Amino acid sequence: MIDEKINIKKPETQFGNADAANHVTGRSIYVDDIPAIEGMLYLRIFDSPIAHGKIKKIDYAEAEQTEGVVKIFSYKDIPGENQIGGIFPDEPLLADEEVHFCGQPVLIIAAENDDAAEEALHKIKIEIDPLPVITDPRIAFAQNKLLSPSRKFKIGDTTTAFAQCKYIFEGRTETNGQEHLYLETQGAYAYPTEHDSVKIFSSTQGPTQVQRTAARVLGVGMNKVEVDVSRLGGGFGGKEDQASAWATMAALVAYLLKRPAKCILHRMEDMRMTGKRNPYSSDYKIGLDDNYNILAYEATFYQNGGAAADLSPAILERTLFHCTNSYFVPNVTATAHSCKTNLPPNTAFRGFGGPQGMFVIEAAIDHAAKNLGVDASVIQRKNMMDDGNEMPYGQIIKNAEAKDCWDQVTVKCDIEAIKKDINDFNSQNDLIKKGVALMPVCFGISFTNTMMNHARALVHVYSDGSVGVSTGAVEMGQGVNSKMIQVAAKTLGISTDRIKLESTNTTRVANTSPSAASSTADLNGKALLHACNQVNERLYSFVKTEIAGDTECIVEIKDEQVYINGEATVHHWKSIVQQVFTKRINLSAKGHYATPVIHFDKSIEKGHPFAYHVYGTAIIRATVDCLRGTYEIDAVHAVHDAGTSINHLVDLGQCEGGIVQGIGWMTMEEVVYNEEGRLLSNALSTYKIPDIYSVPKELTVDFLNTDKNNLAIQKSKAVGEPPLMYGIGAFFAIRNAVIAFNPKSTIKYNAPITPEKVLMGLYSSNE
Ligand code: MTE
Ligand code: HPA
Ligand code: MOS
Repeated sequence: MIDEKINIKKPETQFGNADAANHVTGRSIYVDDIPAIEGMLYLRIFDSPIAHGKIKKIDYAEAEQTEGVVKIFSYKDIPGENQIGGIFPDEPLLADEEVHFCGQPVLIIAAENDDAAEEALHKIKIEIDPLPVITDPRIAFAQNKLLSPSRKFKIGDTTTAFAQCKYIFEGRTETNGQEHLYLETQGAYAYPTEHDSVKIFSSTQGPTQVQRTAARVLGVGMNKVEVDVSRLGGGFGGKEDQASAWATMAALVAYLLKRPAKCILHRMEDMRMTGKRNPYSSDYKIGLDDNYNILAYEATFYQNGGAAADLSPAILERTLFHCTNSYFVPNVTATAHSCKTNLPPNTAFRGFGGPQGMFVIEAAIDHAAKNLGVDASVIQRKNMMDDGNEMPYGQIIKNAEAKDCWDQVTVKCDIEAIKKDINDFNSQNDLIKKGVALMPVCFGISFTNTMMNHARALVHVYSDGSVGVSTGAVEMGQGVNSKMIQVAAKTLGISTDRIKLESTNTTRVANTSPSAASSTADLNGKALLHACNQVNERLYSFVKTEIAGDTECIVEIKDEQVYINGEATVHHWKSIVQQVFTKRINLSAKGHYATPVIHFDKSIEKGHPFAYHVYGTAIIRATVDCLRGTYEIDAVHAVHDAGTSINHLVDLGQCEGGIVQGIGWMTMEEVVYNEEGRLLSNALSTYKIPDIYSVPKELTVDFLNTDKNNLAIQKSKAVGEPPLMYGIGAFFAIRNAVIAFNPKSTIKYNAPITPEKVLMGLYSSNE
């Protein structure tokens, strides 16, 4: 029964990843690979050395005299608005009178070469009157420093429900930030074009966001800014909003000096100037009845937003959407505050606040389980959501796969045997302990901001039968290009070889939402489907009238061959296209898609915000060296609800990468700012990310093969973000091993669970 359901069998035809060969042979082009045009300027940014203060004096006259330096720009040189805030206008491109975080851009140096720019950087003198620095969101909250209005999601009545609970547990959790560490640092290249316009090549997830921001800062219409994106060497949310600053700087210099300009951040600049995953500090209160049903749950989230809103208000909202993870809890009150601190504005990162919310309820359940002397998995399974359940935000769950994924993975891996093995091992070993945890995930698919859920695509069938496809989707390694090619090939009934996927360009596809929220393939794929179907209609209608002579017949093109009423004909794609062209019929089409059904009313915090949910469960095992505090993640086995995957390899890659990135966040990646707001983990020597040696020795992901009616592209569910959250299980697996060594350990729900914290936890005591 299990084997039938779990998609262990690989699909017969594998398209794979359209970019893979070019990537591994070094042929893929990133921003810094674009050939420089004669006269190109190199930009470097002078950023604030302190986290909060009033600029008393800034002197760059000498720096500007450096040989090779063309000009240094301050906020005074900006022709339009000095404003790049996406959700709220609270973030200047260049600091004016005050600085609000260490690393805040103050001046742009434009030079003939990077060395000259670098030399000038060291000659700039700045005097700043320091102001108090806040890095802790709870302190910011106490001083009423908020980036956006606080939010509250509520279902049922927790006050009455707690009165009925047999067991109540309260506690506090911390989750730290996470550096995106995309391989390609932030950067852009811009040059002036005719009619006072600029063209920008940007490493951005949001070409339209870059276009809008640059237009605003230059003080021109969006039609004067063209943004082109070939691909990103990773984004992970870090380039959803935060690519705009560098692109706008390059555009500004190109526009003002009428010369090409390139702005590429060095790794350490990128690390100190850009925001990261929002750290959260949270309080929880969980109440259970006799049978371990969770009757009530309260949580308060203090989000560390940094110095400007950026995407934090939207991230805050998704924390609330996912605060009960895969569980049905009838009474919930969840409150969230976006706190303003003097750190670089924190931003989107895979999961977009969801992981931060899920961690808290997992900690609350673990807390309850430890006190009740049961395995956390008992409480987890018991409270798993099902069809018909109402989420705290009002959406009624349909096609829930939460229990199914959980049951499949626990049966397949024989969780009882795993637990027994671990108990046996732990009773036989004093200084090495093992732990296991289960991590269910339920993630809502759609931008939580309903108006963002739309996309467009443009298809040109050329007269020789080759096809050019443009969409608003940005390729950042997640494989969306491959999926777009597949969607076009399948819909047109032709080989993928005939299709060229064009770069993402704002003059071909306009007003795009960023490639984010795991929704890129769904939104752009559906728009592409719409465009291809329009072309099909014209081709089919030609075949009906001119070839079959029967307007009622059924026409289909499959494997490039024309079928009439199910019968193969001698006509092929190419010949039909040529004939249609000579008849002066339009061989191009623009498709549009807006997700139906979804809505959300912020005034009551209720609605139906998600097209559908993605489910899954992972079992994570860890081994802790109890002398050293070091650990290894031994195994991760997941059953993941991929719908009917159209690209097994791409989806598997997303799951594997997401899991490892999630484990990194929970274990070894530690963003450290000192009290003055200076980033201490500012290079790869001080910020540790998972490498191939930290990948679990065993890592399997089986897809639950479901075929339910949903709004996913060709029923292939979104896969980008959800797998990251399986990594949360690593925290609890390690923590369980620590408790096995020392049941009195006071180790906190404080992520990441670094070896240092493990070591302290192993030898701590609550007595
Ligand atoms: N995978 C790779 N290789 N590189 C990335 O930058 N970004 C993640 C995820 N997977 C990312 C990735 C994030 S944050 C999101 S929202 C989705 O991909 C975006 O792409 P999708 O909408 O096509 O899933
Ligand atoms: N997810 C990711 N990015 C976003 C979202 C979201 O829900 N809303 C706005 N930007
Ligand atoms: Mo992803 S955090 O939505 O870019």
